[in-house]
Parts: sequence; structure tokens; C-alpha cells
Amino acid sequence: MSRYLVTAALPYANGPVHIGHLAGCYIPADIYVRYLRLKGEDVKFICGSDEHGVPITIKAKNEGITPQQVVDKYHKMMGDAFKEFGISFDIYSRTSNKIHHQTAQDFFKTLYDKGVFEEIVSEQFYDEEAKQFLADRYIVGTCPKCGNENAYGDQCENCGSSLQPTDLINPKSKLSGAKPVMRKTKNWYLPMGKIQQSEEFQEYIKRFENWKSNIKGQCDSWLKEGLQPRAMTRDLDWGVPVPIKGAEGKVLYVWFDAPIGYISATKELLNESWKNYWCNKDSKLIHFIGKDNIVFHAIIFPMMLQQHGEFILPTNVPANEFLNLEGDKISTSRNWAVWLHEYLEEFKNKQDVLRYTLTSIAPETKDSDFSWKDFRGKITVS
Ligand code: MF3
Ligand code: ZN
Repeated sequence: MSRYLVTAALPYANGPVHIGHLAGCYIPADIYVRYLRLKGEDVKFICGSDEHGVPITIKAKNEGITPQQVVDKYHKMMGDAFKEFGISFDIYSRTSNKIHHQTAQDFFKTLYDKGVFEEIVSEQFYDEEAKQFLADRYIVGTCPKCGNENAYGDQCENCGSSLQPTDLINPKSKLSGAKPVMRKTKNWYLPMGKIQQSEEFQEYIKRFENWKSNIKGQCDSWLKEGLQPRAMTRDLDWGVPVPIKGAEGKVLYVWFDAPIGYISATKELLNESWKNYWCNKDSKLIHFIGKDNIVFHAIIFPMMLQQHGEFILPTNVPANEFLNLEGDKISTSRNWAVWLHEYLEEFKNKQDVLRYTLTSIAPETKDSDFSWKDFRGKITVS
């Protein structure tokens, strides 16, 4: 008997889940876990809500509620939907839990004490009226490429160009409308380029050879370009507070704390014996994710685990591509999706036919398409 820890990406608690989530991540993970259980393997299946990050604070501001109210709402909705569709998690936790904050802070502190981070002072946009630093999404201005006056600091949604906040013409703070100024701030960076050179990381990446080609391809191209240091702390007030002196008013980068959520959820589920799964060379760690999560699970989180020192690294990262809807990319902002809670209202007790259909068109090696016509054809017996 082998021991397996299978994780499915923690979905952001800023909206409900749709068929793309099920097809690309949660159903494949569930099928694999059910298979392992049938074989009599020792397996734990971990998931939960990812409750930090800037989009959640923006949603709260737009709706005039607190970020906690936003995540409470969607945490419940997502958990209910997964249950309805028979996704057999051993635990569905959440990153606003105390045990998670504690675990993420301890993790950060360990890396900090080992001297892993580089302290870097950089200039960031600051809103003097709201008295806070502005995340890229909190800055709007005119796109230098197409002239759209409502481009964001990270992207113009009109022409699709990705931007730096400094590229914007007439930048304005979304918080107060004020013109932001540049101000110096110190943050703690993971020196990914340096870690990439280390012998132990070079040893780890040999595993990519046996992984699906879509993942190996993406990772190889990241590694070939060379990795840059990335800030693991941010000037924000929603998230896990950075547990060191001189970091008041800063929180952990959401992609630092979220994957640690897999560890905290395992602790919550198993108490002391969580280490049998995370710190034992005989156990296997498998991350199911969508393709937009590859670098975080195949490179950044493994670097964090390796630098920490007590953990095993992923045995495999089966990432899937995307599911489209009627030939168009699923989009929350354009409301182009089949939401699971709506499906459940309109097709009572018809979870299995959707599971079947989504399994048959799972986007394993390339994007696939869901259409109602095809759905009808697949589930009708004539
Ligand atoms: N919330 C992210 C997303 O939906 C996934 C986070 S996975 C984790 O894309 F590893 F960070 F937990
Ligand atoms: Zn533009």
C-alpha cells in the first residue's frame, strides 16, 4: 500500500464555481482519488477556498461589504456545489482559518530565519489620500497602446495588452481618484533565479521528464528564460500578516499563502499525523490544477518546500487545459459560464449526466468545448 496526498487547486472565493472548474480540475482529481481508494491505497484528498488576494478586496469595495463577507458567501457556495457534484474531498477548508494563518506565518518565519529571502526596496504607487500602497488592479489610466481610458495597472481589457502601472497615461487611484505618487517600500523576495541554480532544484526538475507534455513545456520555457526574484510580501491589508518586525501593514503574497493552505488543511484533518503525508519520503504528493496555475505548483511552491527543508516535493502535477463554452472562453466578468448552482436549479438531480459529459470532454491535452447540443446528444438514449 502506498500513501498519497492528492490536492485540487483552492478556488478563489470571489465568485461561484462553473463547469470549467469541474472539467479541468475537480472531476479529474476526484476520479483519480476514487480509483486509488478502490485499489485500497491510503489517500487523503485536500481542498478548500483561497480567500486572500486583491480581487476579493475589489469585489468587497464594489459591493459595499467587507472582504470577510465576500469570502463567507462564496466559501459556502463553492463547498455546497462540490458536495452536490460528489467531489469526495476528505476536507474542504479555507485560508481565513486561524490554523492556516498560523501555518503560513510559521512557514514564512522559517524561510526568513534561514536567510532565504532577499530584502528589496522598490518604488510603488501610493495613494496619499487613502494612505496606502496600490496594487496594480487599483490603478486605472489610459492605455498607451489603444487609448482606452479605463485600463488597469496590470492589463488593458480593451486591447488585451499586459501593462505595468507605470505605463499608464494619467494614472488614477481607484480608491480615492487621486493621482498616485511613487513611494519607497521594502518587501521580501524569493530569489528564484538563485534557487534555480542550486543542485537540489536541478535534481528536482528531472521529474518533469515524466510529467504531461503541456506542463513540461511550460516549465522548460520558464526555466530557460531564467527566473526573477518575486515579492512574497505585499503592501495590502487583506491577507496573512507578515510575522516579522518592520513589516507592519504588509501581508503575505497570496500565492505564498494559498499553497500552504494544502498543508494547513491536512493539519486540520489529521492533527499530529499530517507529517506522515507531508514529511515522509514514502508518500506521494499530487497536485491537480488548471494550466494557469502551473508555474506556482511546479516551480514556486516546490522551491518554498525545498528551502524550508522538512517537506517532500510534488510527485506529479497533472494540469489540464481549459474548457470553453459554445466555442468561447469561459469568463466570469462577461458572465459567460454555466454556473453550478444554476445548473442544479434547472436540472434537478442530474449531477451525474454532467459529470459524465465533462469527463468525456475533459481538456487533458488541449482546450475542449462544451455545447448544449453535444450535451443533449451524449445523455439522451434513443
Ligand atoms: N486560487 C487559485 C486559482 O483559482 C488557485 C490557488 S491553488 C493554491 O487559480 F495552491 F494556491 F492553493
Ligand atoms: Zn489598450
